[in-house]
Amino acid sequence: MVQCDLLIRGINIASMSGNSSYGIIENGAIAIRDSTIAWIGKEDLAPELKTKKTLSLPGKWVSPALIDCHTHIVFSGNRAWEFEDRLKGKSYQEIAKSGGGIISTVNETRKSSSEDLLKVAKNRLNVLQSEGVGTVEIKSGYGLDLSTEKKMLEVAKELENEQICIKKTFLGAHALPPEYAEKSDDYIKYICEEVLPELHNLSLIDAVDAFCENIAFSNHQIEILFEKAISLDLPVKLHADQLSNSGGTELAASFGALSADHLEYTSQKGVEALAESGTVAVLLPGAFLMLNEKQKPPIDDFRKMSVPMAIATDCNPGSSPICSIRFAMSLAANLFHLTPEECLAGVTSEAAKALGIESKGTLEIGKDADIAIWDISHPNELAYWLGINPLSKLIIAGKMI
Ligand code: NIG
Ligand code: FE
Repeated sequence: MVQCDLLIRGINIASMSGNSSYGIIENGAIAIRDSTIAWIGKEDLAPELKTKKTLSLPGKWVSPALIDCHTHIVFSGNRAWEFEDRLKGKSYQEIAKSGGGIISTVNETRKSSSEDLLKVAKNRLNVLQSEGVGTVEIKSGYGLDLSTEKKMLEVAKELENEQICIKKTFLGAHALPPEYAEKSDDYIKYICEEVLPELHNLSLIDAVDAFCENIAFSNHQIEILFEKAISLDLPVKLHADQLSNSGGTELAASFGALSADHLEYTSQKGVEALAESGTVAVLLPGAFLMLNEKQKPPIDDFRKMSVPMAIATDCNPGSSPICSIRFAMSLAANLFHLTPEECLAGVTSEAAKALGIESKGTLEIGKDADIAIWDISHPNELAYWLGINPLSKLIIAGKMI
């Protein structure tokens, strides 16, 4: 006899686990006890169940709740003027070199109160949640000093509640702040010795990220940062090979990174390094679109080498002012030619791997009861519709949102 709090029945399930396409279970049922899945399978094969509540949803589909594994949603202001400049032909790098770009958001975020930051970030989180997202990774990186990085990560922590899971990433090596102009080695020393250990002691960091690029930090500087992170037992990830091939992907893989993100310029050697280390390739087609990039990530090589591919919004005010996980899925299909199944895996099972979360991303016995319920007739519709939200209900940790 299986005891449960909630039984969802009459559903078709895209479990995203097992070897079959989408892990489909037709005419299925899911039994939830506390916050986890107590039983899942074909309804007519269910064991004897004793449930407090039953939800009959004939015709609906369910999938794991979606996971946005790369965002920068805690920031102030916007950069619509830079967007206009880029439309007129200025590049993202030119804007960054002339003091705009990330630094202009740093200036706004440093001035902003925690309350204001919390308010704008909460709005963005609610929008993601309204599309079925149950887990969001949030990066710092618009502070670049101890007090503002702390403020950003505290806001990220405050966003976490029983309705949403948040993973907090320290991105102190995002750009060089003006007070360290021409002194980038000193800045790396500052974040390694003063910022990272302090924020880690405050339990504000789940992982460490950096921007490896000629307009940001060198491979050697990132190695120093990653060595420090590993010494504190923090996993790493990297913005790698976004605008040029710097070998960032190989660098991330050599540290056993959870993920390497962007990857437009990743070489064959980089793909092989990811395959060997088990590092997830996080694709950010929103940034590719908004920066009018022409070079695409080596998707076929990732497939050939079985590199897991996740997809995320990269929601930020510069390269990706996009707050829609389903738009990111559609872009991954339309621009990078991922299949609809790869798109759904990219925001469920593979996104969970990119965050190092074993209890989410698939629907299986013992996993978290994070479940999205959809008004669709096949899961391939999730990368297909735009402007229509097919989400019917969202259940997080066993509770209806
Ligand atoms: O993922 N590439 C670096 N970081 C962000 C952009 C941040 C910004 O422009 O504000 C990205 O694209
Ligand atoms: Fe990013």
